[in-house]
Amino acid sequence: MNKTANQMLVIFGASGDLTARKLVPALFNLYKGKHLPENFIVLGASRSNMSDEEFRQKVVYESSYLKERVKAGQEDFIKAFSDKLFYEDLGKDYDTDYTNISNRIKELNKKFGTNDNFIFYFSTPPNLYEVIAKNLSDQGLNDESKGWKRLIVEKPFGYSLETAKGLNNGLQKYFNESQIYRIDHYLGKETVQNLLVTRFSNSIFEPLWNRNYIHHVEITNAESVGVEKRGGYYDKSGALRDMFQNHLLQIVSFIVMEPPIDASAEEIRNEKVKALKSLRIMRDEETLAKNTIRGQYLASEIEGKKVKGYREEDDVDPQSMTETYAAIKFFVDNWRWKDVPFYVRTAKRMPTKVTEVVIHFESPHHQIFKDSDMSNKDNKLIIRIQPDEGIMIKFGVKVPGQGFKVERANLDFYYSSLSETNVMEAYERLLLDAMQGDATLYARADEVEAAWSFVDPILNYWENSPDVRTYGYSAGVWGPKNGDDLIEGSMGWRNPGEHMADDPGFCVIC
Ligand code: BG6
Repeated sequence: MNKTANQMLVIFGASGDLTARKLVPALFNLYKGKHLPENFIVLGASRSNMSDEEFRQKVVYESSYLKERVKAGQEDFIKAFSDKLFYEDLGKDYDTDYTNISNRIKELNKKFGTNDNFIFYFSTPPNLYEVIAKNLSDQGLNDESKGWKRLIVEKPFGYSLETAKGLNNGLQKYFNESQIYRIDHYLGKETVQNLLVTRFSNSIFEPLWNRNYIHHVEITNAESVGVEKRGGYYDKSGALRDMFQNHLLQIVSFIVMEPPIDASAEEIRNEKVKALKSLRIMRDEETLAKNTIRGQYLASEIEGKKVKGYREEDDVDPQSMTETYAAIKFFVDNWRWKDVPFYVRTAKRMPTKVTEVVIHFESPHHQIFKDSDMSNKDNKLIIRIQPDEGIMIKFGVKVPGQGFKVERANLDFYYSSLSETNVMEAYERLLLDAMQGDATLYARADEVEAAWSFVDPILNYWENSPDVRTYGYSAGVWGPKNGDDLIEGSMGWRNPGEHMADDPGFCVIC
């Protein structure tokens, strides 16, 4: 049975890239999978002047994503979907009179029976969030007496702790916290959610999930692409704000958290907040210098093709110090994790695209197989978030023959082996959850603020200390050489895949 109530989704910033690239394809897949309620429509709103028909052309018929997925002969099906989309021009700016859009919402609500249940999706720059919320409230569109009203807000949620608090206060003036859904598309990924299931539905991992058995935790997020067409946004953001503060700290919170009482949104989020609050904040310059590294990709040649350096990308300041590589080492101040180092890195223009978590277990306390070279033979649990989604356990086995020579073997699970399952993409899952009022996979205000509290001192240090270096690395390698020095000893980072960096492109570019 479809448990999603009849409703309308109003997208602010609908002429932007996200609507055509992510939201409409996700809605289309939900429609195809019969997950949408019987009465469901979308109203796009932005400052572009478009008719309903032009909007449909732009986000449905001209969408390369939909073109690839739609088979010939499905024209009627596509038309039925696209007939659910409407558009309203807001005029020259967002802080305008919302009477027109409010009337349009009411008219469509009546005509299509969406029962006064509205989701307002803010796909606009964050400085407009409060403006839109206020204008909606002026029109009474936050009032839940007849139907529910929800806001979905896109990232970046703030630029710093202070601005995130400002946004939270701004939104909470007009909507209750329970109406606000802060999106982080990593939480929509099955493999990220599966971190919870791996930890809390198996009895074999949890007893080992602590400082007694885990030596260190490593998280890598690598992208092979550069900043693409988003130089203007990225240059003001950088890897720490773009990926680390949100997506990667969400993953960290799932690794670090204590078992929640149950799987409800509030219990899971309570534990995540506790986890984020227990990250040891680095305050003094010496600690920050030792535990944080930033880098920027330089022009290079990848497989015979010339690739631009970050500073040559469109809309990027040619003197920019913005990081496209960030590697951070930190500790977690609680009973479970005391003295276990966490190493997290994120970067663009790496040799491959991969996101993975590696739990490195301690070596056996007493090693009896003295003949074997046991370096790098510790047990590892490798959780592949993407691609090749799956989980691998590395463990020692005896090499056949005389004596006790130990080799490393893998137990490897691939999600793709569950071929019957149709895995929803992140935006599909998250949109459907919000439609059903399930906020488990959305970040709560205190969660976002706790993440910023950890990141803020690093950002301040990077932005304001004259001693901080930005290290260059050639596009297509695993980051600057000294990124590897962050992990003590000979262990180094696990660089998945065959692409190894022989030229780390190490240089100081400031
Ligand atoms: C976005 C960042 O949030 O996530 C992008 O703004 C990044 O810079 C993207 O490329 C990565 O998402 P995914 O799902 O491809 O890992």
